[in-house]
Amino acid sequence: MTERQVITIDGPAASGKSSVARGLADALNIPFVSSGLLYRAATYLALHHRQDPSNEQGVLDLLRTHDIELIALPIEPNRVSCDGEDISAALHTDDVDANVSSLAVLPNLRHWVNERLREVKGSFVVEGRDMGSVVFPEASHKFYLSASAAVRAKRRVSEREANLYEVEEALKSRDEKDKKQLEPAPDAKRISTDDLSLPEVIATLLKEIEVSPQT
Ligand code: DC
Repeated sequence: MTERQVITIDGPAASGKSSVARGLADALNIPFVSSGLLYRAATYLALHHRQDPSNEQGVLDLLRTHDIELIALPIEPNRVSCDGEDISAALHTDDVDANVSSLAVLPNLRHWVNERLREVKGSFVVEGRDMGSVVFPEASHKFYLSASAAVRAKRRVSEREANLYEVEEALKSRDEKDKKQLEPAPDAKRISTDDLSLPEVIATLLKEIEVSPQT
């Protein structure tokens, strides 16, 4: 791959975006970038400093005085550091989940995340909500993954100990809150993953970008 390739994968929570992005990036031997981790890191920072995550100025002030870095390398999982300390393990807690949407609606926080993402060099697969529509409108390939709330809840429950009904309701509520940034890019290829396994979704995407899984 000589020219820079940015491949965007968007979709709602638990639609399989991160696993698909990781699998696709591994097949292409380029890094994957999870944009949600930056929203999560800002939320973590706010909660850690007892700052209300929906207080835009308060969170921006914290981001100005703390150094959040997203480390995206081929094959390895994304890691996030805050002032040099690895905070990756603290970003998928119920507390961060419950607060991240109220921070992610704030325009200046979206701007902060988008600027960090646009600093990433080279080719990569990036996943989120508005990667193809807002952040990388010039991306080489754009995908939008969808799945029913019931299927997404089952996937979540298989990853974390939780009640299926409660998880489905929480996902629906997050969809509602994230609605504004969930609008697919008009030129994104839409793929429903309800009836597809993870390798099938990855193979579908690879076929679309005309790279066989063997290369
Ligand atoms: O993909 P995720 O679950 O890690 O994302 C965490 C939250 O961040 C999610 O509730 C919505 C928000 N988000 C966003 O608004 N825009 C993105 N590009 C990525 C995530």
